Amino acid sequence: MRFDLVIRNGTIATASDVFAADLGIKNGVIVQIGGAMDEAAESIDAAGKYVLPGGIDSHVHIAQPSGEGIVMADDFESGTRSALFGGNTMVLPFCLQEKGRPLREALKAYHALAEGNCYTDVSFHLIVSDPSEAVLGQELPALVEDGYTSFKVFMTYEDLRLSDAQILDTMDVARRTGALVMVHCENEDAIRYLIGRHEAEGTVAPRAHATTRPIAVEREATHRAVSLAEVADVPLVIVHVSNREAMEEIERARRRGRKVIGETCPQYLMLTADDLDGMDWEGAKFVCSPPPRDTASQDACWDGLERGVFDLFSSDHCPFRYDDPAGKLNPKGSRNFRHIPNGIPGVELRLPILFSEGVMKGRIDLPRFVALTATNQARTYGLYPQKGTIAVGADADIAIWDPSLTRTVRHADMHDGADYTPYEGAELTGWPTTVVLGGKIMLRDGTLTGTKADGSYRSRGRSQFATVPPKVGAGT
Ligand code: URP
Ligand code: ZN
Ligand code: ZN
Ligand code: ZN
Repeated sequence: MRFDLVIRNGTIATASDVFAADLGIKNGVIVQIGGAMDEAAESIDAAGKYVLPGGIDSHVHIAQPSGEGIVMADDFESGTRSALFGGNTMVLPFCLQEKGRPLREALKAYHALAEGNCYTDVSFHLIVSDPSEAVLGQELPALVEDGYTSFKVFMTYEDLRLSDAQILDTMDVARRTGALVMVHCENEDAIRYLIGRHEAEGTVAPRAHATTRPIAVEREATHRAVSLAEVADVPLVIVHVSNREAMEEIERARRRGRKVIGETCPQYLMLTADDLDGMDWEGAKFVCSPPPRDTASQDACWDGLERGVFDLFSSDHCPFRYDDPAGKLNPKGSRNFRHIPNGIPGVELRLPILFSEGVMKGRIDLPRFVALTATNQARTYGLYPQKGTIAVGADADIAIWDPSLTRTVRHADMHDGADYTPYEGAELTGWPTTVVLGGKIMLRDGTLTGTKADGSYRSRGRSQFATVPPKVGAGT
């Protein structure tokens, strides 16, 4: 066979194995692993490097409509470019339903924004903000059939939160259709109460974002979400878990036999609430929900990654500019923590952070890294085995990592649309240098070689964990 591309001399890692072998690619898929591969149109020498499945980041926000006067810093072009440089070949952004509007309308808008503007493959989760009879009865089931097989619901944010009754109704659609529900667990009424107390005292600096969203607020909501999922009898994903007490709710539910998938993110390993105390208004750069906690919570999240409490490690990339009229510094012209848009950039550093602080420091091994960042992501969201692994027949989505490269994180080196990185100055060892998407070299030794026309939209099959078994052949 004459291959389109052969990756030679590398060390391949999957979620289960690490081994030395060459990799042969033809027509966008992996066609041979190991053995002779003499004839190739193109070759990459990966000696001294790791050859891993391209990262799949199942939790990113791109071009999502924000509050009035606030603009998300990334469109699909900058968001997926940043993802690519961070070793990713696929991202799953959220498509937000605006209240009173059909989901289809929002999807049409997102597809139009993404079309021809992606350096990675993309697929969409739905955010259900208005579970009307029409949405629950017709629209959502039809969308699941069309390959939008996961939706997120919120317990917080005044304009997004659903009541417990609405969450149950939405979970019931998932039960009947085999979709997967993701829940943002924070108790909005408790947050409102604490905001009232803070404002009465005149406490309005960024740090108040953390003190109005304490662990109890997340723990209670996590408990409620797993209980509602138990009542509705559906599996669920608890996204962006920040601390041990929420982890314990997940573990307790699992001991009752529930399928609960846990996700954590780089901010909960690298940041603490003290970062919200920055000079002037700098603390706004670290405002995200749930907020970063303390070093004990960081240790807990590492423990959860090691022990399997977490199946997913995603970025929750949700970038806003800092020094910008539409950003974090002067939200609504008023310096009150309540107006700071929630979310921080992270899609480019998710993998380098976990590689450096996890793999290089011996906390997790390479197969666990691959599982958390690619394989489990594909399994959970209906993309496996087409994506998320290195196997004959899988898409040739590959990231080649140089474990000997140490770099200090600088915003100037990032490729997203934000004007800062929360990880400025971090020294990380191990970086992706070459990325292949569907057999095409998108990034070669750190130089962009692909175009924004190379990524494509991918319809998804059912989650492996969904109540309705996946259809044969689904997942492409
Ligand atoms: O602060 C965050 N995490 N913003 C993004 C939206 C969300 O809740 O995931
Ligand atoms: Zn959320
Ligand atoms: Zn998010
Ligand atoms: Zn920038």
